[in-house]
Amino acid sequence: MQTKILKPDINGINGAAKLLRDGETVAFATETVYGLGADACNDAAVAKIFKAKDRPDFNPLIVHFADIDQIAKFAEIPDAAEPLLALWPGPLTLVLPKKPNSGLSDLVTAGLETVAIRIPAQPVAQQLLRRFDGPLAAPSANPSGKVSATSAAHVQDGLGGRIAAILDGGNCAIGLESTIVGFENGSAVLLRPGGIPTAVIENLTGQKLGQSKTKTISAPGQLASHYAPDVMIRINAKAPRANEAWLGFGQNLRLAPGLNLSSSADLTEAAVNLFDALRKMDAICKKHGFQGFAVAPIPQTGLGLAINDRLSRAAAPRQNH
Ligand code: TXA
Ligand code: MG
Repeated sequence: MQTKILKPDINGINGAAKLLRDGETVAFATETVYGLGADACNDAAVAKIFKAKDRPDFNPLIVHFADIDQIAKFAEIPDAAEPLLALWPGPLTLVLPKKPNSGLSDLVTAGLETVAIRIPAQPVAQQLLRRFDGPLAAPSANPSGKVSATSAAHVQDGLGGRIAAILDGGNCAIGLESTIVGFENGSAVLLRPGGIPTAVIENLTGQKLGQSKTKTISAPGQLASHYAPDVMIRINAKAPRANEAWLGFGQNLRLAPGLNLSSSADLTEAAVNLFDALRKMDAICKKHGFQGFAVAPIPQTGLGLAINDRLSRAAAPRQNH
């Protein structure tokens, strides 16, 4: 299949919406990472997402809407979720009780009683959702287990030839996936750290975010190995070893061939650069014949939580999924 590259203008957005209505898959930019979209109410279309990504089908997908008013038919909003609605549109996903007979494909929720919902803010994503006028299921637009895509070129690299089109919305402004929050016993629990720091969520709810007690879903982003480049990664390193390249943070000396996530030690900048840097480090290691690369310590505050979460999964022993 030839993957079309669509410009983020009226024609491109209309073209993308038409392909989606016809049951095809289209990757589109959000402020977090690129998503691989399909009509969330069309089983055959959703099945194409799993096929293109090689994603295990027990892993449920996030459903994207243009605004809160569209959600009522599909999910309930528990009281504990109300204060967090202020963060929409934005890099937040809420796992909510699913309404019966909503019309969502069962593949989207992998048979769970809950559905993950997000309202992205990125203008092209907003226009596409409005034009399509319905829910779009969209996981990150990368082959399962691999590094997420923050540009149209990244999507083309991983999924070119396997999806109908890419709606090019430029580089993603945040660069990390959404923060996922669920609700257990009337309180918010953190399911995945992401683009909204947990402190922002805790300020709105007035409570510490709990950790989820249910271990029933094996979410791919929650599997030990994910976001993995081809070469090996060693995190929290003081310096590179002889056969390693170096991914720095802050004022590290240029200790070996490599890159710096943010020389001013800015976590927002590091988040934007993270996935692109993981891809480039792969290439740098291959060029120099290194087995892998070492990564400088990243502070465990603010966006650092999500950055360290992604790095530790990228560094974990690889699983076949
Ligand atoms: O920023 C993002 O969240 C991006 C953009 C495209 O929106 N999407 C994204 O999707 O990261 P994905 O599929 O790569 O990660 C979604 C995560 C997975 O770990 C999935 O298992 C989890 O959300 N998830 C989906 N539905 C769920 C549910 N009902 N309960 C718990 N986790 C769920
Ligand atoms: Mg993903």
